[in-house]
Amino acid sequence: MFYKIAQKVMFQMDPELAHNVAMSGLKATGNSALNCFYRQHIKPAPVQMMGITFPNPVGLAAGMDKDGEAIDAFHAMGFGHIEVGTVTPRPQPGNDLPRLFRIKPAKAIINRMGFNNKGVVHLVANLKAAKSDILVGVNIGKNRDTPVEQGKDDYLICMEKVYQHCAYIAVNISSPNTPGLRTLQYGELLDELLSALKAKQTELAEKYGKYVPIALKIAPDLSNDEIEKIANSLIANEFDGAIATNTTLTRDGVSGLMNANETGGLSGKPLNELSTKVIKQLAHCLKGKIPIIGVGGINSAADALDKRDAGAQMVQIYSGFIYQGPQLIKEISDAWRVK
Ligand SMILES: Cc1cc2nc3c(=O)[nH]c(=O)nc-3n(C[C@H](O)[C@H](O)[C@H](O)COP(=O)(O)O)c2cc1C
Repeated sequence: MFYKIAQKVMFQMDPELAHNVAMSGLKATGNSALNCFYRQHIKPAPVQMMGITFPNPVGLAAGMDKDGEAIDAFHAMGFGHIEVGTVTPRPQPGNDLPRLFRIKPAKAIINRMGFNNKGVVHLVANLKAAKSDILVGVNIGKNRDTPVEQGKDDYLICMEKVYQHCAYIAVNISSPNTPGLRTLQYGELLDELLSALKAKQTELAEKYGKYVPIALKIAPDLSNDEIEKIANSLIANEFDGAIATNTTLTRDGVSGLMNANETGGLSGKPLNELSTKVIKQLAHCLKGKIPIIGVGGINSAADALDKRDAGAQMVQIYSGFIYQGPQLIKEISDAWRVK
């Protein structure tokens, strides 16, 4: 009920302004009695994945809390985990405004944020300051002005900085809004990146006496052949997980609607089927060797269960959370537990 009212107000505002206002509110109230406006109890529905026991299968997808500002508020809402980031080694402003667009009739969003974030040092300070014990994954990327061929170094810098302070690390090579980033999904660049990250994980696990799993986040805009190659590389480099998918460059399901022609990645309802198809193909290629977090267009418990049927062990939500509110966490988790 509260969310429906808040949503009405926020949907009158510019999307990025609404986002900033909401995040400030969540940051300010996360640890206070005022979190009663969004706090909810989710019945335990534990999921084992990547050697971690998650209290329920619903996570917040990357991009909403890029700097880890409101971790405790998302914990109060009942998320089983939150993925913060994408974070880059150095702070960067992201793309010019406007860069975030709602497509309300399709329950969709287009964004071309471009990894606006305050940098990895700031994020680590926020991770340390968080009071709740929610499992936090950190999604890492490269700075826009780092050439793709040297992108690997940015991922290694971020990994080293966040390693001790998170439950898992997500490697984002699938955002469409950093020029050239998606080329890291293919061929030698991919193998080089994954093997360097695996070597760094082994080194850090030894150094800190703690094994932090690493997962790769992929795009939905991949052919079956490309998915197979990525799966083989994940297996060869002993990755711990895969996250499928990021936003799409396709515009199926939104053509003719306002904002549909904006440049950027499309998320929400129109992405659902494509993302589920990619998960199914990825699961087929991974043969149960590596678990998958399913994300993309989940707008109901049924959508989440479809992701599970396609081969996902757990799910994340972003756009569905904007359109449905925190209630969606409960709906999915309850359905997951029962079925
Ligand atoms: C405004 C916005 C910003 C996003 N930023 C990131 C990001 O920084 N890193 C990332 O890996 N994914 C990012 N995503 C993608 C989401 O994490 C998710 O993969 C995608 O939106 C599909 O899920 P959904 O349909 O539930 O939104 C972003 C999505 C949106 C809408």
